[in-house]
Amino acid sequence: MKNILVTGGLGFIGSHTTVALAEQGFIPIVVDNLSNSELFIKDRIEQILNQAITFYQADCNDYAAMEKIFKEHTIEGVIHFAAYKAVGESVAEPLKYYENNLFSLINLLKIMQQFSVQKLVFSSSCTVYGQTEKLPVDESNAILPAFSPYGNTKQIGEEILQDVVKSQVDLQVISLRYFNPIGAHPSALIGELPRGVPNNLVPYITQTAIGKRPFLNVFGKDYPTPDGTCIRDFIHVCDLAEAHVKALQFLQNQKGSFIDFINVGTGKGNSVLEVIQTFEQVSGKALPYQFAPRRSGDVTAIYADARKAEKILGWKAQRSLADALADAWRWEQAIQNLEPMRF
Ligand code: NAD
Ligand code: WQD
Repeated sequence: MKNILVTGGLGFIGSHTTVALAEQGFIPIVVDNLSNSELFIKDRIEQILNQAITFYQADCNDYAAMEKIFKEHTIEGVIHFAAYKAVGESVAEPLKYYENNLFSLINLLKIMQQFSVQKLVFSSSCTVYGQTEKLPVDESNAILPAFSPYGNTKQIGEEILQDVVKSQVDLQVISLRYFNPIGAHPSALIGELPRGVPNNLVPYITQTAIGKRPFLNVFGKDYPTPDGTCIRDFIHVCDLAEAHVKALQFLQNQKGSFIDFINVGTGKGNSVLEVIQTFEQVSGKALPYQFAPRRSGDVTAIYADARKAEKILGWKAQRSLADALADAWRWEQAIQNLEPMRF
């Protein structure tokens, strides 16, 4: 298996995975509509790899455009990142999320069927667990009603995949449930590029530290956790990228109809205040922050039981929270003069 289609491959997780794939001898074929990414990321990926990559600017919802890609290359596996991911926006514009995230998946599955492509890795999320009682959470945990239309697209996506695998004798799927991906490539050539005000904690921290935001709002200080702030499982994006390579390698040896769901996290929870403290240590900067009311929709605590990934894929997170925050900080500093290229 060589040619791997990477949808959303210029995005945050997709770009790091494209690098990891090429480093492991796969040939990534990247498709992205640039709705939440920038073309210069392609050049940066090539700079890291010191080789050219194949890129199509196309929308996964455009059947004809996707069909053309499958005709031009013998695709042997697909990693499907392409989706919208902003939780708050999905509450305000649910149809935009259902349309993009579900149609793109359906389209892709139809084209894969047409071209007899049998291996798929799907981007799912720990959001499918909601606020579980059981921590760390393992994959056998109940899927609770989604908190947002975004979360629901991941639950429905998993259900679609299950039904299609049941109906087809020749489709092998792994749905990776990511916890909280953070960090950047250590080269500081690729990383997260939030548009406008970041929703997520770590880009907000790095933008505050660099002076783009006056202070960080810490949402909630009275949660039932040791320091009163929420707990998450923050995973370095390079570790997450490598999990995709392992998932593909695992699928290489699968035949018939197969689907499994695998957590990708570190197995360790850190509170928001711990993230701030660790960031201050690695950056040597004091981070201005203040407490603000709880953010609606936030769960108190979630972190992975990551043993299944180790057992089935032979994958385990290698990088620490400090590594990830140091890389995120290096990236934030590196992109200061890139503003015109971003929007
Ligand atoms: P991202 O927005 O950086 O990357 C997604 C990429 O897909 C972008 O480059 C965007 O331009 C592209 N895209 C979107 N819709 C498209 C379409 N219809 N056709 C072609 N390209 C399209 O997001 P990310 O953080 O890299 O997330 C990747 C995947 O992982 C998404 O499916 C997301 O829901 C999932 N996920 C992300 C997180 C997270 O916290 N970042 C956590 C769990 C799951
Ligand atoms: C982490 C913690 C905030 C910003 C989201 C999606 C989830 C998944 C990963 C895709 C929370 C706190 C944040 C800030 C803060 N994505 N925070 N001040 O909400 O755990 O997960 O991304 O599937 O579906 O919901 O990540 O980084 O937004 O927040 O105090 O300015 O940081 O309240 O406790 P979250 P996050």
